[in-house]
Amino acid sequence: MSQTLLENRPVAAAPPRPQPPLGLLAEVTHRCPLRCTYCSNPLQLDPKSSELDTDTWKRVFSEAAELGVIHLHMSGGEPTARRDIVELTRHAAEVGLYINLITSGIGVDDAKLDALIEAGCDHIQLSMQGADEAITQRVGGYRGGYEKKQAFARAVVERGVPLTLNAVIHRMNIHQVPEMIEKAVEFGAKRLEIAHTQYYGWALKNRAQLMPAREDVDRTIEEVETARERLKGTLVIDAVFPDYYARYPKLCNGGWGTRTFSVTPAGKVLPCHAAETIRHLDFWNVRDHSLADTWYDGPAFTAYRGTSWMQEPCLSCERKHLDFGGCRCQALALTGDAAATDPVCVKSPLHESIGAMATTESAVAEPGAATYRGFRAG
Ligand code: SF4
Ligand code: FES
Repeated sequence: MSQTLLENRPVAAAPPRPQPPLGLLAEVTHRCPLRCTYCSNPLQLDPKSSELDTDTWKRVFSEAAELGVIHLHMSGGEPTARRDIVELTRHAAEVGLYINLITSGIGVDDAKLDALIEAGCDHIQLSMQGADEAITQRVGGYRGGYEKKQAFARAVVERGVPLTLNAVIHRMNIHQVPEMIEKAVEFGAKRLEIAHTQYYGWALKNRAQLMPAREDVDRTIEEVETARERLKGTLVIDAVFPDYYARYPKLCNGGWGTRTFSVTPAGKVLPCHAAETIRHLDFWNVRDHSLADTWYDGPAFTAYRGTSWMQEPCLSCERKHLDFGGCRCQALALTGDAAATDPVCVKSPLHESIGAMATTESAVAEPGAATYRGFRAG
């Protein structure tokens, strides 16, 4: 072939370079004082001995900021179980990240809270298991948690730090949604997230105990809508309803490898919080690869980014750029194939059976005792 022909030969278009990520969920430890029945962390938790050390987390935060990350969600487990949490917070603030601390509020005394705020913590998200002690204890497996959470919420608001309450909803607490909304107002929270349980990790084990009835979900949707109207200007309420009863799946994490990513306590970089359940994927570790290389070229990120990996019915569906086929982790958990259409989708051949399974599980009057998580802060 002549040089001219070579130069004029059509070149295969390179896939568009993805946008940089906006958010990082840093799971700095899996240790936790609570034992929540709905925990979405993996069945196999990272032991303390495998956790990244202080300097490595600092490097991760610096690399994240350079890559374009704006929001750092400092999570776990209970992130304040790490002795270096204030130092990590200070470093993340210094490199320009907006820091959201996601905490149970248990074990965070006033002195630690003051130190975290002084170090640069911008926002606090407090988990809420129920609107009173009985339900909080029943769901979280921790005695005295409600009083501590209430005191912590008030301490955060007194200090002028914006507070979001995060309530994971399921059969054990769905009847308390109106009271949780009132508590959020009473505590002075700016925002309340009502998020129905996602059935991965430990929560999948307890699905029969956690699955709410469709009529309870429908009532909750109305309760949330009414409260939103009434509390306009006082409290923002975000709500995620269970997709087992939906027609279309959710856009999980804003799309695989599109907006956010997670780093586990031991340093694995994941496209989503539950991605480790997809065992055939090769997750790069921050110990071996830069965050930039992992985000753009890591095999776990390229596996389900975009739409080229899709099968039918997603491949020819008009919604494929809206939900990207739904949740890969849920597709794997329910079909055995992570590249399948999320089976909650009405176009999936499994859609009917998923809805029927949810209805059957939620109809069992006494579903037996839920299994508590067991991995205390040490
Ligand atoms: Fe989404 Fe796939 Fe269902 Fe279409 S077929 S709505 S892309 S999950
Ligand atoms: Fe992993 Fe939805 S939780 S893609």
